[in-house]
Amino acid sequence: MIAKTFAGLEDVLADELKKLGAEKIEILKRAVKFSGDKKLMYEANYWCRTALRILKPLDVFEVNNEKDLYNNIKKIKWWRYFDVEKTFAVKANISNTVFNNSNFVALKTKDAVVDLFREKLDKRPSISRENPDIVINVHIYKNDCTVSLDSSGRSLDKRGYKLFNGEAPVNEVLAAGMVLLSKWDKTTDFFDPMCGSGTILIEAALFAYNIPPGNYRQNFAFMNWEDFDPILWEKIIKESYLKFFDFEHKIIGGDISQKMCVIAYKNIKNAKLHKDIEIYKKAFEETFAYNDKVTIITNPPYGERLKTENIIELYKQIGDTLKKKYIGNAWIISSDMNALKHVGLKPAKKIPLYNGQLECRFVKFEVYKGSRKTK
Ligand SMILES: C[S@@+](CC[C@H](N)C(=O)[O-])C[C@H]1O[C@@H](n2cnc3c(N)ncnc32)[C@H](O)[C@@H]1O
Repeated sequence: MIAKTFAGLEDVLADELKKLGAEKIEILKRAVKFSGDKKLMYEANYWCRTALRILKPLDVFEVNNEKDLYNNIKKIKWWRYFDVEKTFAVKANISNTVFNNSNFVALKTKDAVVDLFREKLDKRPSISRENPDIVINVHIYKNDCTVSLDSSGRSLDKRGYKLFNGEAPVNEVLAAGMVLLSKWDKTTDFFDPMCGSGTILIEAALFAYNIPPGNYRQNFAFMNWEDFDPILWEKIIKESYLKFFDFEHKIIGGDISQKMCVIAYKNIKNAKLHKDIEIYKKAFEETFAYNDKVTIITNPPYGERLKTENIIELYKQIGDTLKKKYIGNAWIISSDMNALKHVGLKPAKKIPLYNGQLECRFVKFEVYKGSRKTK
C-alpha cells in the first residue's frame, strides 16, 4: 500500500505505520510504501495522524500511449472491486510522461471502466465528482502506470471535528505532524498561545489521550468496496476504546482575538474535548509567568495570509515572552524566515515543512532560566 502525506512528515508517518505492524516500509517523496493485510489498511485509515490517504495498488503496467492506458485499465476486473450501483471518480497524477494532461488520463481511465461494466453487465456506474463512493487513483511516472483504489476517499485531514475555520488555519495532518515531530512526551503541559481555530490543540489532545484521528469520521471509501468487512471494522473501533490513555497534564490555548477563542471553543466542543482543553482570550505577551516546564507549539501570523502591523515586532515579543515567562521547549512554525530570526533565541532544531504552498520552518527553541539572546 501507499500512504500519502506532506513533505517533511514521511518519517513520522513511517513510524506510525510501523507501530501498527506494517512491513516492508519504504520512504518515498511525500509518501510511505508498506505492506500489510486488510486489517492494517483499515487501521492505517483510522489511526495514522499524519496520513492524507491510503492507496491500495491493483495493477502496475507500462504505458506508451493512450491505447495502452485504455486497454490495461479495461483488463482490471473492476466488478470484483465495486458494485455497478456505486458512483466513482478518477484522480490522475502524471509526471515525465507521454501524456501532458492529467484530466485526459482520468477521462480515458473512466471510459475504460465504464465500457468494461457495460460489456460485462449491460449497465454502467455513474460518475460523482463531489462525493464519489469509489475513488480510482492513476499514477503515471515516465512509462510506469500504477492503478490503485483509494481506501480513504475524502482525504484523512478531513477529520470531521471542525465546525469553523479561522482566517489561516493549519491543516490537521500538519498539526498532528508537528506534535509528533516535537517528540512531546506528555510529561509537561501543552500550550498553543496563538491557537486560532484550535487545530494544534485538538491534535495534541487526540495524541495525548491516544484517541484515533478517524474517531469522528463516519465514512471511508473502503466501506463501499465489495470486500468490506464490517465485523473487522467494528472490532478495530472497539479495540481502540481500550487503547485510550490517561493524561495528567493540561492542554491550554490562548488567542488575542475573542472571535478566534469562540471558534476554537466550538471546534473543541464538537470534538468532545472541551473538558480536556482550556481556552483563554489573552495576548501571549500578557500571559502570566509559568513556573513548570511547558511544551509550546504555535503557528503565529506570517504576514503572508494574515496582516499584522509589524511582524518583526511580534516575533521579538514572542521571544521576550518566552525568555521572561516560560521554561521548556517552544516550537514555532513560520514561513517568515527573517521574522523567525527576531525571536532572539538560538534555534535547537529547524525542520522544513510546508503549510499549504508556503515553505516554512518548524523551529525548536529550548527555553530555560536565563536563556541567552543570540547576536
Ligand atoms: C495563523 S493563526 C493560527 C491558526 C491556528 N493554528 C489554526 O489552526 O487555526 C495566528 C493566530 O494568532 C493570533 N494572534 C496574533 N497575535 C497574537 C498575540 N500577540 N497573542 C496571541 N494571539 C495572537 C491571531 O488572532 C490568530 O488567530
